[in-house]
Amino acid sequence: MMNSVWRPYCQMKTAPPPMKIVATEGCHLIGENGERWIDGMASWWSACHGYNHPHVREAVTAQLQRMPHVMFGGITHDPAECLASRLAEMAPEDLNHVFFSDSGSVAVEVAMKMAIGHWRRHDRPGRTRFLAFENAYHGDTTGAMSLCDPQRSMHARYSGAITQQFHVPLPRDETTEAELNRVLAEHSDSIAGVFVEPLVQGAGGMRFHDVNTLTRIRDACRRHDVLLIADEIATGFQRTGKMFAVNHTADLHSPVVPDILCLGKALTAGTMSMAVTIARSHVFDSFYSDDPGAALMHGPTFMANPLACSAANASLDLFEQTPYEVGNIESILRERLSVLRDIDNVADVRCFGAIGVVQFRDPPNMQTVQDELVRRGVWLRPFGDCLYTTPPLCIVDESLHQVCDAMIEATHAVMAQSNSREVNQLR
Ligand SMILES: Cc1ncc(COP(=O)(O)O)c(C=O)c1O
Repeated sequence: MMNSVWRPYCQMKTAPPPMKIVATEGCHLIGENGERWIDGMASWWSACHGYNHPHVREAVTAQLQRMPHVMFGGITHDPAECLASRLAEMAPEDLNHVFFSDSGSVAVEVAMKMAIGHWRRHDRPGRTRFLAFENAYHGDTTGAMSLCDPQRSMHARYSGAITQQFHVPLPRDETTEAELNRVLAEHSDSIAGVFVEPLVQGAGGMRFHDVNTLTRIRDACRRHDVLLIADEIATGFQRTGKMFAVNHTADLHSPVVPDILCLGKALTAGTMSMAVTIARSHVFDSFYSDDPGAALMHGPTFMANPLACSAANASLDLFEQTPYEVGNIESILRERLSVLRDIDNVADVRCFGAIGVVQFRDPPNMQTVQDELVRRGVWLRPFGDCLYTTPPLCIVDESLHQVCDAMIEATHAVMAQSNSREVNQLR
């Protein structure tokens, strides 16, 4: 076998062949023989309006005929100008300055460069490192990898080859808050900013935290005068029930407004790769100067690709026109998945917005879990100790119940298999 395609997160020697998909439609993936699977992953959180939405498709088709791409250095175009001003309008406070890039990981890299550049302009050139949290995941490029949990993440195998950052537990209580403040105080000469996935840590284990934790992080950043960088690449665009997860703090006396916000994934409704890094005015102003050397030196070839911008503009139209009932998705997930709590091997069942997670104590063979799901017409990709769903926001109740049925039945089936194996081993 030639293995011309080197697949992601995959031991090429032992992994079973991937599932071949030839078409998508609504919330479904369609196989070679017309089989249909509900995509309970929304293609890694991105297909928020489902697939092939006519409005998005028409916008991209029209743009394809007019101008599929043009470089962004020294040139601009309406799809990018329009998208930037809409995002600036939607993002809290003065998060008004939108820098385009091609993927979430690159948006994180850009945020790091913005923060380092900001402090250089404020005579703090030593501030080149970052603090992130245990179980964090911020992407797969080398800078983003350095922000991931250095011990527990899949990037641990690169330790020694990437920059060492600071990692502390999320400040869920006074002790961990003190730990955060201590590290920020001790390393105030070197820490440029704090990265957080607000309210939901995704690929680091699908863990949730509350608004108070987020507020403590913001307070610590203020106290130590470092930048707060919110990575909402996964949580953005209503995944948690609000447009952005930080909006859950909007009613507080002092809402959390990050200095820099990263968005991606659902930005183009799962159509094309694009991400943005949005800066508040004081960060932008650090680069705004008569000195050409003070400019932000970054510019990917496909920056602000017009097709991707038109998909994103169409996606924002849909968010304006379609009030999704994410609360309804959360209620169904909560109500249905809670039965799995009765299983000894299930450590936790948790749901927040359009995210439902089943965490195991002693994870079963996840390939077997996936096979059981696929047999039941549902596509999910369990990882680590978690079986989880992040369905398209447009999913109808009937399909969501089907996803829940499959998760429940697949868990029971796999538990029954491992129980019978144990009995056989005893014999
Ligand atoms: C919170 C977070 N940040 C960054 C990334 C990286 O985004 P991308 O895969 O588009 O590079 C991801 C991807 O899963 C993510 O969940």
